[in-house]
Amino acid sequence: MAKTTVTAGRLLDFMAAFLLVAIFPAGPAARAQTEDPAWLRYASGHQHATIPASIRALGTNVLEQSAVEELHRGVTGLTGTGTVSGGETVVGTLNEVRAAFPGLAVPAHIAAHGFWLKRTLWHGQALVLVAGSNEHGALFGVFDLLRRIATGEDLFHLDVIESPAMPIRWVDEWDNADGTVTRGYDGRSIFFEGGKVREDLSEATAYAQLLASIGINGCNVNNVNDAAPFLEPDMIKGLARIADAMRPWGVRLAISVDIASPQKIGGLKTFDPLDPAVKAWWAAKVNEIYQQIPDLAGVTVKADSEGQPGPASYGRSPADAANVLANALAPHGGVVLYRAFVYNNHLDYNDMKADRARAAYDIFHPLDGQFAPNVIVQIKYGPIDFQAEEPVSPLFAGLHKTNVAMELQITQEYLGEQRHLVYLAPLWKEKLDFDLHAENRSTPVKEIIEGKSFDRSLGGVIGISCVGRDHWLGAPMAMANLYAFGRLAWNPNLSAVQIAAEWTKQTISTDPQVVATVDKMLMQSWPTYIDYTGFLGTQTLTDITGSHYGPNIEASERNGWGQWHRDDAKGIGMDRSVATGTGYAGQYPPALAKMYESAATTPEDELLFFHHMSWTYKLHTGKTIIQYVYDSHYKGAEEAARLDDEWATLKGKIDPQLYEDERAWLEYQAGHAIVWRDAIVQYFLKETGVPDALGRAGHYPGRMEAEDARLAGYKIIDVTPWEDASGGKAVSCKPNSAQKTCAAEWTYSGKPGRFDVAVAYFDLQGGVAHFTLGINGTEIVSWAADAKLPSRQPNGDNSTRFTARGPDGRGFDLKPGDVLRLEGAPDASDPAALDYIEVDPAQ
Ligand code: GCU
Repeated sequence: MAKTTVTAGRLLDFMAAFLLVAIFPAGPAARAQTEDPAWLRYASGHQHATIPASIRALGTNVLEQSAVEELHRGVTGLTGTGTVSGGETVVGTLNEVRAAFPGLAVPAHIAAHGFWLKRTLWHGQALVLVAGSNEHGALFGVFDLLRRIATGEDLFHLDVIESPAMPIRWVDEWDNADGTVTRGYDGRSIFFEGGKVREDLSEATAYAQLLASIGINGCNVNNVNDAAPFLEPDMIKGLARIADAMRPWGVRLAISVDIASPQKIGGLKTFDPLDPAVKAWWAAKVNEIYQQIPDLAGVTVKADSEGQPGPASYGRSPADAANVLANALAPHGGVVLYRAFVYNNHLDYNDMKADRARAAYDIFHPLDGQFAPNVIVQIKYGPIDFQAEEPVSPLFAGLHKTNVAMELQITQEYLGEQRHLVYLAPLWKEKLDFDLHAENRSTPVKEIIEGKSFDRSLGGVIGISCVGRDHWLGAPMAMANLYAFGRLAWNPNLSAVQIAAEWTKQTISTDPQVVATVDKMLMQSWPTYIDYTGFLGTQTLTDITGSHYGPNIEASERNGWGQWHRDDAKGIGMDRSVATGTGYAGQYPPALAKMYESAATTPEDELLFFHHMSWTYKLHTGKTIIQYVYDSHYKGAEEAARLDDEWATLKGKIDPQLYEDERAWLEYQAGHAIVWRDAIVQYFLKETGVPDALGRAGHYPGRMEAEDARLAGYKIIDVTPWEDASGGKAVSCKPNSAQKTCAAEWTYSGKPGRFDVAVAYFDLQGGVAHFTLGINGTEIVSWAADAKLPSRQPNGDNSTRFTARGPDGRGFDLKPGDVLRLEGAPDASDPAALDYIEVDPAQ
C-alpha cells in the first residue's frame, strides 16, 4: 500500500483529512486471512430471530458436530444468547429426526445434500429442526438457517426444503508446490510452500468452512499445469493432511494430475493411455491415493493444451485418456474432470479459417458417448478463455451422452485482477440462463449442467478460485464473487441482485441504504468494466502473453494464441460465419447458428466476436462502431468514478477499516479506468483517423504532458505499447550522484478557478519511488509508489492516476502563471516515471 506522508508546508493540516481517503492507489494493507471471517461474521442485531438457544446434534458424525458448533457460534453472535427460552434447536439427518421425534410429520425424501428447516412445537415447546438428507445436508442446512437469520428473514413460520441443483460444486485452486498461486492475486498458497504441503493447515480448514457455508463440496488444490510432482509418495501424504483439514466441513479433496505422470514420475517409457503398463500404473497410483484419502472426490486433467502433454502424442483421444483414469477411480467412487480447454496455441494468424474458438467443439463433439460414466467434461463458459464478453461455448449443446460441468473463474484474471471491482454474478447468470436451443427445444445451460436437459446423472459447476493467504481474494468486495459462485452452484435460479443483497447483509451491514448502495455498485460493476476495457465482443484488449491486466491492444494479434480481433484502419472483428468466415457460428444448434451467421441478427455485445465489421458500420442506435468505442470508454470511466462516489456515501455507516480499504481500491480503479479509456481511444483514433463526434478523443483539456514540461534530470522515453502513455511518451528519472531526484515543471495557462490535480505516473515493481507535488514552491502532497502492480517496464499495467483534491476536497486555486512542480525520487529499479498531470475543475 502506498504510505502517504505530507511534507512540511502550510497545507499540512487541511490536507490530512483528504489524504486518508485519497492516497491509497495501491489498495489496502492485507490482513491475515484467518482473521477474516468473510460473510461468516454473525454480527449482532438479530435478537428477533425466534431460535431456541439450546442446540444439540442428534448424531455423532463429524459433520453434525461441525454443524452444531457453527450454529452455537452463529446464533450467539447474531442473536446474543438466543431469544427463545425453552425449546430446542436440533440438527440431524431425516432418519435421526424420525427416530427422535416419533409422530412428527417428516418429509419422506430429500435429494442428496438437501435439508429441511422447520420451526414447530413439540410438547408445547418451540422446536427448530435442521434435518439433512444426510450429514452433509444437515451441515448445509445449518448454514442456510444462519443465512436466514443474518439476512433478517422471519423464521416464525419456517418450513423449507432445499437441495442442490447439481452434484459437482467444486472450486479449483491453481496452487503450485512452491507456494505461488497461478492467477492468484492475494498472497501465497494456503496449502503449499517450498515444494511441500504446509505444516499449518488452519487456513485450509477455515477455507473449507467458508466453502461449506455456500454449499461447495469439493476443492481441487493444485494447478492444472505441471501436476506430476503431486503424485509423488511424500506429496500424497501431504495431500492426505489437506483432506483431513477440510473433512470436518464436508469439502472433499480433489487434485489435478498430469497425464504424463507414468513417464515423468513412474519410470515408464510411455504415458500412452492405451498401454497396459500405463493403465496398471494409474490403477496402482489411484489405489495408493485412496488408501490415504479414502474420500478423494476425483481428479482434474488439462492435457494437450498450452504445453501440457496429452494423449495426442500417441494419436489417442481425450476419451482414451479420461477413461483410463476413470476406470482406476471408479472402484473408489472418484470422478474425472477432463477439461475441454484443449487447443493449438501455434495457430497461423494469416490463415483466415484458423480459429481457436472452434477447438473444444471440434475435438470433443465427435467423442460424445465415448466417455466413461464417471467422466465429466469441464467446459469453460466461453470458447476462448474467461473473457469479460464472450458467447457461451457451443460444446454445452454438443454433448448429449456425456456428463458436463461449466468452468467459471472467480479470480478476476481478465477482469481487473481484484484491483477492480467487478461483481461476476451477472456475467455468470447470463451464461447459466442462456438457452442453447439444442434439439430445437429449450435447453438453458444451467439445465444442461444440472443433467436435466440430456438426462445425465452427473454434472455441475467449477469455480477457479485461487485464494491466497493474505486476505483470501484481496479486495473485500471481491469476496462477493466467491459467495455468489457457491450460491449459484447450489441454485442457479437465484438472481444476481438477490445474492448481492445476501452477501452485503452478512458482510457489510443490514442498513437498507447500505444494502441498496452496495448492491447497486455490484450490479453496475461488470458493465462498467466492459465499457472502459473492451467493446462489442472484441474479447480482451489486454496483454495476453503477460500480465492479463492493463491495456495492450496489439498483444492479441499476429501470434499463435488465437485471441485475435483483427483490427486495421478499415474495420475490426473475427469473421466466424459459415459463409465467409471460420465456420464457428455453425457449431451452435440451428436457431443460434442462424442468428450468429448474420451481423444484423447477432446481438451487438457479441458482434465483433462473430463478424469483421467496418468502423463506420451503424449499430442499431445509428451510431458507428468507432463512435461507440469513444462513447463507451468515456462512459465507462465516468461510471468507474461514480462507483467511488457511491461508496463515499457509506462513510460513517459501515466499518471504518472496510470503508477505507475499499475506498482505496475504488480510487485506484477510477484512475486505471482512465488509463484504459485513453489507451483504447487514442489507439483506435490513430488507426482509423475518424474523429470523435464529441471532440473528446485526442483532446485532454487541462492535461500537461511530462514530455512538454521543463525537465530537471528527467529524460523523455517512448512507452511500449505506445497507447499506454498519453501521447505515447513519458519521462523517466536517471539520477546522478549529485542529484537524487528529478523534477518536471509546468506553468499554468488556463482560466483561473479551483481545480483538482491528477498525476499519472508509472508505479513499477522493484522499488518504491516517491513523488512530491507542489504549487508555486509550496509542497502540497507527497506519496510513495509502492503498489503491487505487474511489470517492471512503464506501461498500462502500472500506470496509476492519483488525484489531489485539495483541502476538504474543494480543489486548489490556480491562476495563469502559477507553477506546478512534480518531483520524483526513484528507488532501485523504479525510475519514478511520469506521464502527465491534469487539472480538472473541482467538483
Ligand atoms: C488461462 C490462464 C492460465 C491457465 C489456463 C487454463 O489461460 O491464463 O494460467 O493455465 O487459463 O485454464 O488452464
